[in-house]
Amino acid sequence: MSNYHVKTLEEYFQLYRKSVRNPELFWEEIAEEHFVWRKKWDTVLEYDFSKPEFKWFEGAKLNITENCIDRHIHIRGDKTAILFEPNNPDEEAEHISYKELHKRVCKFANVLKEQGIKKGDRVCIYLPMIPELAISILACARIGAVHSVVFAGFSSTALATRINDCEAKMVITSDGSYRGAKTIDLKSIVDEALESCSSIETVLVAKRIHSDIELKEGRDKWLQPLLEEAYQDCVPEIMDAEDPLFILYTSGSTGSPKGMLHTTAGYMVYTAYTFKNVFNYKENDIYWCTADIGWITGHSYIVYGPLANGATTVMFEGVPSYPDFGRFWEIVEKHKITQFYTAPTAIRALAKENLDFVDSHDLSSLKVLGTVGEPINEEAWHWYNDNVGKKKNPIVDTWWQTETGGIMISPLPYLTPTKPTYATLPLPGIQLALIDENGKEIKGNQVDGRLCVKYPWPSMARSIWGNHQRYKETYFSAYDNMYFTGDGALRDEVGYYRITGRVDDVIIVSGHNLGTAPIEDSVNEHPAVAESAIVGFPHDVKGNALYGYVILKETGEERNQDNLRKEINQIITEHIGPIAKLDKIQFVEGLPKTRSGKIMRRILRKIAHNELDNLGDVSTLLNPEVVQNIIKERL
Ligand code: PRX
Repeated sequence: MSNYHVKTLEEYFQLYRKSVRNPELFWEEIAEEHFVWRKKWDTVLEYDFSKPEFKWFEGAKLNITENCIDRHIHIRGDKTAILFEPNNPDEEAEHISYKELHKRVCKFANVLKEQGIKKGDRVCIYLPMIPELAISILACARIGAVHSVVFAGFSSTALATRINDCEAKMVITSDGSYRGAKTIDLKSIVDEALESCSSIETVLVAKRIHSDIELKEGRDKWLQPLLEEAYQDCVPEIMDAEDPLFILYTSGSTGSPKGMLHTTAGYMVYTAYTFKNVFNYKENDIYWCTADIGWITGHSYIVYGPLANGATTVMFEGVPSYPDFGRFWEIVEKHKITQFYTAPTAIRALAKENLDFVDSHDLSSLKVLGTVGEPINEEAWHWYNDNVGKKKNPIVDTWWQTETGGIMISPLPYLTPTKPTYATLPLPGIQLALIDENGKEIKGNQVDGRLCVKYPWPSMARSIWGNHQRYKETYFSAYDNMYFTGDGALRDEVGYYRITGRVDDVIIVSGHNLGTAPIEDSVNEHPAVAESAIVGFPHDVKGNALYGYVILKETGEERNQDNLRKEINQIITEHIGPIAKLDKIQFVEGLPKTRSGKIMRRILRKIAHNELDNLGDVSTLLNPEVVQNIIKERL
C-alpha cells in the first residue's frame, strides 16, 4: 500500500482539492490499488443525507480477514503480526507471525461455527488485552459474525445492557485478567450480567489467570481445549461491502448507549489507508498503540488498520504505572518501537513522575508520536515533544470518533508543520464545515463553530443498532445535509483546526466518553437521592473529572455525607464502571432551573470550573436564590 504521493504541503493541498473535486474517483483509486476483492464494486458511493443512508463500494464482495491475514502469508508469513507484551515484565513477550495468526484465527472461527455461530449473529467479546481478543474479533469477521466488544472495565450491568441491546448469542471472556498488581475476576462479572440476558446460548472462557472458577453446565466452555481440537483452516465467508462488520457502543448525552454499526468495505479501506499515511508506516516498523481494543482506537488502529498493511502491531496487557512509571518507555526500548500512539491522559499522568523514568531508556527507535481521544493541552504536548520525541519526532494529534471509524483530522508526519493543541488539517477526502448558532456555515479562517462533515467518507458508522431514527436525530438532524460531530472547533489563520471540546452533555474523562444522563440515573437510584446533575471540571491528569450536585430527599434524619458519597460512587461503579465515579459530590438544597424546569448545567459548569464572575443573568431562573448557596458551599 503506498503513501500519499506528496512531498510538500502544497502537494497535500493539491491532493486535498482533487479529493473534493471528485471524491468518488479519489476513493476508487485507493480501493483499486490496495486490496483483495472477490468482486469489484458496481458503484463507489450512493448516499442520501435525509434518510440517512450511505453505501460505499456497493456490489463488491470481500472478506476483511483475507485482506488482514491471508494475502500477507506468502510475502511476510514469518513476520510478526501481533506482538503481545504481558502485564508482568518477567513473562515473555509473544510474537505471533502472520502464518500463526492465520492458523489461530481459522481455528477460532471453526470453534465459533461448531458452537452454532453463523453469519450475521452477534458475538459479545468481553476480554482483557490478550491475543485472544484480537483473534476472536478476526474469527468473527472470518465467518461474517458481527462482533461487539465491550471494554473489560465495564460493570456487569453495563455489559448486560450491551448484550441485550444487540441480542448477542455468545459471550467470549476469560477466567480473569491482570492489571498491574491486581487480578480481576472477569468471569463472575459475566455470570452476574447473564442473569438478565436471555439471548446468550454459549460462553467461551479463555484461561489467563488460572483461577479456580466454576463453569455453568451446558452454557460455559473452556476455549483452549476447543481450539486444540479445531481444524486449522477456515474458508472465509464472502461478504457484501455493506454487510455489518461490528457494533461498538458509545455513550450518548442521553439515554442508553448507542451501538454504532460499522460495515465491511468502507471501514477496511479507510482504516488501512489512514493507518499507512498518518503514522507514515514503513515495512519494518514496530507500531504500538496503547489503547484498549475495547475502544474504537483499538479496533481501527491495533487490529484492522495495521494488519491490513501487514504491519507488526503491539498489544500491551498492562498499565503505564506497573511495575513502575517507566513501563511504557521500557517497552519502547525493548521492542524498538517506531510509532507510539497514546492518549493525553496517559501523557499527563507520566509527566507528573520523575523524568528519570523516561531518560533511563533508549527511545531512539521512535519516528512518529501520536495522541488521540481528547484535546491535548499545551504543557502535555511540550512534555511529550521534548522528553519522548526529543524534539525530532512529529506528533500527530489525531481527531476522530467511534462514529467516524477512522482518523479525520491529523498532521501528516514530516509534512504538516505541527502546532501544539491543534489537530491541524483534514485528511484528503474529508470535507469539514464549521456551523454557527443559526445553522449557517462559517466560511473563512480565524473562526469557531460547531464541527460538521459535509460529505460522506467510507468508514462512517451506518446506523445505531436497532434504532436508525436515533442515528438520524443525533447526527443528521441538527443541520441539513451534514454529519454533526457534537464537538466545537476553531479554525486558525492558516486553516488549522483545534478541537475545543464537546458542545453536548458528553464529558471526556481520561479519554473515555461519558454521557451525563446515565450517570445521573445511577446516582438517582440511591434511596436517599432526590435529584442530581453532573458536569465536568478540569483535572490535571484526567483532562476532565466529574462533579455531581445532589439533592437529598427530606427525611428529617442526619446522614453521614462521606458515607453517602461512597455509596453513590459504589452504585455508579456497579451500573457503569469505576471510570464514571464522581470526583466531587456536593449536596445542595436545589438546582438552578429555567422556568420550564430544565436544569441550567451551564451555571453548574461555571461553578465547578470556579468561573464565578461570569455566570450570566441568573435572575430569569425559576429559583435564583439557590445559586449563591451552591457557590458558598462549592468543593
Ligand atoms: O470530543 C472528541 C474527542 O473524543 C470524542 C470521541 O470519543 P470516542 O468516540 O470515544 O473516540 C475516541 C477515540 C477516537 C470526540 O468527539 N477527541 C478525540 N480525539 C481528539 C478529541 N478531542 C480533541 N483532540 C483529539 N485529537
